[in-house]
Amino acid sequence: MTTPSPIDAVTRDLWQVIAAVDETPVGIVQTTLLLDQRIAFSRDTEGTPVVWLRTNEEHGDTIDLTSITARLPVITGYGYIWTSFGNPPDHLFPIPEYAESDRVNMSCGSIGVGSSAPRIVENFLDMGHFPYVHTDILGAEPHTEVKEYDVEVSEERDEVLATRCRFFQPRAALSATEGIEVEYIYRVPHPFCSVLYKSCPEDVTRQDVIAIFLQPMTAETTRAHLLQSMIDSTSTITDLRRFQQTIFGQDKPILENQYPKRLPLDPRAETPIRADKSAIAYRRWLSQKGITYGTIPMAS
Ligand SMILES: [Fe+2]
Repeated sequence: MTTPSPIDAVTRDLWQVIAAVDETPVGIVQTTLLLDQRIAFSRDTEGTPVVWLRTNEEHGDTIDLTSITARLPVITGYGYIWTSFGNPPDHLFPIPEYAESDRVNMSCGSIGVGSSAPRIVENFLDMGHFPYVHTDILGAEPHTEVKEYDVEVSEERDEVLATRCRFFQPRAALSATEGIEVEYIYRVPHPFCSVLYKSCPEDVTRQDVIAIFLQPMTAETTRAHLLQSMIDSTSTITDLRRFQQTIFGQDKPILENQYPKRLPLDPRAETPIRADKSAIAYRRWLSQKGITYGTIPMAS
């Protein structure tokens, strides 16, 4: 086992995702790794999640949670359980669309990836790989051009925002019947989470929402938890889940073959082609915040 990486102060105080609420059974111990720490969690008889530093519990043990007195902070949001090793904020970052009553909200699985959380965020922001990695779904040759788009770091909301991102997609969503130029908005409202808004094939006035919440298990291994919040009156949840898992399954081997696995924050570390505009803004934002976990910080 490799030596645990030190947890920087900002990462320590963040909410960190650990599991989907509806996949966490009541009264049965679940175990996982978060920031190199072994943790255990379950839900009490009211369904409320309880998270603690794992001692001798084993995954699958039954447990009376009243015996757990030293508990980590817990919040639920967007169908997931989040915890923290520090002093997290009162609320999770907002995704207001999640509350819209006609949306189909679903967790789309939790997938282990042999790469750092920041690498996975950066890949999520990158449209350039669509025709090559998600061929005939999210992109197709000869439509390989990433058109000019806008990126800003919102001081007020403390997030990276990329807007006016446009890309030709043969099959933008399960509900798409023909190729369309889709418009994307990307938000990075948390160092290890990103929320994507994209043109909805079923209703041109609204956007589908796809989010990726990353659980840094170690600095170089991650569990990716996926959320979809869709306007889709015809597809089944199973089909919607499968579509998203297919896309992410295509990203996984690419991510696992990227080196270094930690994201270099020095802008000179990788060529500007790999690190495009949103990636540069994301790296700079992480650097300014002082995030070192999962990164290669700039030499000071
Ligand atoms: Fe991808």
